[in-house]
Amino acid sequence: MQLQLLTTKNIFLVGLMGSGKTTIGRKLATRLSCEFIDTDHALEVRSGVSVGRIFDVEGEAGFRQRETRLLKELASTPGHVVSTGGGIILAAENRQCLEQNGVCIYLQANFGVLWSRLKDCKKRPLLQKSDPQEVIKQLLIERAPLYESVADITVKADQRSVNSTVTKILHLLKQYEQQRS
Ligand code: S3P
Repeated sequence: MQLQLLTTKNIFLVGLMGSGKTTIGRKLATRLSCEFIDTDHALEVRSGVSVGRIFDVEGEAGFRQRETRLLKELASTPGHVVSTGGGIILAAENRQCLEQNGVCIYLQANFGVLWSRLKDCKKRPLLQKSDPQEVIKQLLIERAPLYESVADITVKADQRSVNSTVTKILHLLKQYEQQRS
């Protein structure tokens, strides 16, 4: 499928960790024949170390600065499907950048689904706590309004298979484009 909007914008996938942004984003990019970028992966390639190591050395604040710098760069290079880190929506300047330079797709998943995907995860620094379930519940409460505030399109990513979620997103993107042309 071809989308005109990719000539001037990116498609940004936002949502909590475990919502499927990377898996769905990669497949979506394939279906749209465009390049896929995962911000966490891009930051790891640039720094030569893992996200966990960046948190260890520079703290969350250092990681967030790197994330903002990368997002600003991506803003000037349209035509990508970009899967973003779950905390990218925390900074107001990032939210503005997402809204102005892309179509934002919020992948919404409930606590049960997130926990089933994240319970054994060792690579996400925010979950390396004594009560990771509570962390996820709090993040859901704190961040859902922020994801909603930037979202042009919201898709429930709870039950569908990856393929049917991607098909649904493509349908909604086409509708979004037609409404704006
Ligand atoms: C984070 C989510 C992670 C990663 C970092 C912080 C967050 O990305 O950016 O561990 O604040 O929610 P994913 O959402 O891809 O797991």
